[in-house]
Amino acid sequence: MKKYSIILTAVIGSFLFFNFTSQNQPNDNIIPEEGGLNMPVDVKAIIDNSCYGCHNTDSKNEDGKEELNFDYFGSEYSNIKSAGKLKEIATLTKDGDMPPSKYLEHNPEKALDDNQKALINDWARMEAKKYKANK
Ligand code: HEC
Repeated sequence: MKKYSIILTAVIGSFLFFNFTSQNQPNDNIIPEEGGLNMPVDVKAIIDNSCYGCHNTDSKNEDGKEELNFDYFGSEYSNIKSAGKLKEIATLTKDGDMPPSKYLEHNPEKALDDNQKALINDWARMEAKKYKANK
């Protein structure tokens, strides 16, 4: 009997442990619905901090949201348009053209380091491929 309760404790324990740890994976997709963008937590943090302010529906930056609106993926943007925008995101971020350098002069904390640029570049290219495959 004692043996059984030890085994039972071990089984329940490891079940809880794996459930708990799998929820803390850095690459959990936090926007899992169809359409929209699949953003791992680390990607979303960068975009929220450095891009979203100028590129969402409520943004006061009319030129910015006209060119790119993150809220339009999976709705206003067709799949082919989404793929195109994602490629632009990859290229402009990798080359350091976004966020705009004028803006960074006053907001240096929004600048991306090389790792963050690479992360956005890889992610945007992967997402672009998914949209292109579904066009
Ligand atoms: C201070 C506001 C501002 C921030 C912050 C900003 N952008 Fe922009 N973005 C703009 C403006 C304004 C334009 C349109 C004019 C231009 O291309 O310079 C633009 C254009 C773009 C375009 C071109 C879309 C197209 O189809 O031509 C992309 C892609 C883009 N931004 C991505 C990003 C990404 C990714 C980030 C974050 C890493 C970012 N932007 C941060 C203001 C901003």
